[in-house]
Amino acid sequence: MTQETKKVSGNPIKIQDNTFRDGHQSIYATRMKTEDMLPIAEEMDNCGFHAMEVWGGATFDTMHRFLGEDPWMRPKILKKYIKKTPFAMLIRGQNLVGYRHYADDVVNAFVDKSCEIGIDVFRCFDALNDFRNMESCARRIKENGKEFQGALCYSLTEVRLGGEVYNLDFFVKKAVELEQMGADAICIKDMAGLLSPFDAYDLVLAIKKAIKLPLHLHCHYTSGMASMTYLKAIEAGVDVVDTCLAPFALRTSMPAIEPIIAALQGTGREPAIDLNKLLVLGEHLENIAPKYNTYLANQKLSIIDNGVLAHQIPGGMISNLTGQLKEMNALDRLGEIYKEVVLTRKEMGCPPLVTPVSQIIGAQAVLNVLFGRYIRVSNQLRDLVLGLYGRTPVPIDPALAKKILKNYKRGEEPIKERPADFLKPEIEAAKEQLGDLARSDEDVLAYILYPATMEKFLREKYDKSLTRGAGDKKNSGKKFAA
Ligand code: CO
Repeated sequence: MTQETKKVSGNPIKIQDNTFRDGHQSIYATRMKTEDMLPIAEEMDNCGFHAMEVWGGATFDTMHRFLGEDPWMRPKILKKYIKKTPFAMLIRGQNLVGYRHYADDVVNAFVDKSCEIGIDVFRCFDALNDFRNMESCARRIKENGKEFQGALCYSLTEVRLGGEVYNLDFFVKKAVELEQMGADAICIKDMAGLLSPFDAYDLVLAIKKAIKLPLHLHCHYTSGMASMTYLKAIEAGVDVVDTCLAPFALRTSMPAIEPIIAALQGTGREPAIDLNKLLVLGEHLENIAPKYNTYLANQKLSIIDNGVLAHQIPGGMISNLTGQLKEMNALDRLGEIYKEVVLTRKEMGCPPLVTPVSQIIGAQAVLNVLFGRYIRVSNQLRDLVLGLYGRTPVPIDPALAKKILKNYKRGEEPIKERPADFLKPEIEAAKEQLGDLARSDEDVLAYILYPATMEKFLREKYDKSLTRGAGDKKNSGKKFAA
């Protein structure tokens, strides 16, 4: 690699550390508690990471649902220990960190609040790569003076980059689109570990040639390729890669940082990060690991998913499929389901297989195999066909769309507008519903995102304090109304 690396010498690769978000989301189902981050937080801050991803994705959901933590608190608490390194979060455009599209008033308030609690970099994506779903979010991030990092969901229709939909041209055009939207940086988001090393080389070169913005690469290790992919992307001149400390790396997580630092020694692209420091930090994670190991998927000896190389289906989706089939006593049909996922996806306009679309396609594939094709159809699939999630990369065949939308109460004719244009403001209505139960704008926003579980969370949180003094209730009621 000497020739390639000479070209970029003096351009150290920057590292975004994802240990505190995507790392434990991937390895431990997002169960890491804030208290277990604190002992190493200050030292993490001293490592010299370009940014640390600490919030977003599934953290908001799991923190209040399973950990009994107020989701807004984590960045606030971490900020007391991590003062130099910018905080990054993953945000699903109009979906924010929830599972549906929210109205623009919710998007604006959520972004404002996220900035207020310390988020500096917003990596924003849309499951369909329909950037209209990121418009409101992007505008608000920029109005707050924070970094809008536009992410492209990497996907494939063949074993390698190319073919009709997901070819080089597709991703370059999408990157240019993001630049035109005002992105401060671009991220290639390879959530299923599909990006192969030599494709990464071509992709990075082509995107770097077409745009002037810093380029990030986020790969999951799932298929076993990601560390090789990073190396080739680094050769091609990528600016930032996402990694985790070794104990929270590999498997379905990101590549580990330690071997990357060792491998880049003397190439001119090695980051100024002290390997020995990382080893000490890794030991802390090893020490707390026994608490969390029940969440580790260890049914298999292999830590990589060879299957994803063949069927391009992400690991999370496979565990959902397996779960559904188990419930229906039909686990023996998994092989058929894999094939059906490919076909259903093609017919549904070839969306990238990422949350929530991956679940919709997966669930429909199961229904198609067990009950006949599109005989039973989920309402989520109808919404997808109706255009409520956005525009699919390839249009859906009108005859099939007609069949699926027949007698659907939300509409029989696919929409062309931005889905959020149909949504009425939500905040005032939620405030009314919650009444005294909410004591802050944070409570209201969290409730809009997660009505059932957040209501329970708020009841538990405030019932305790109510017993201490009724005065609290009155005061916070006023504060909330203002
Ligand atoms: Co990820």
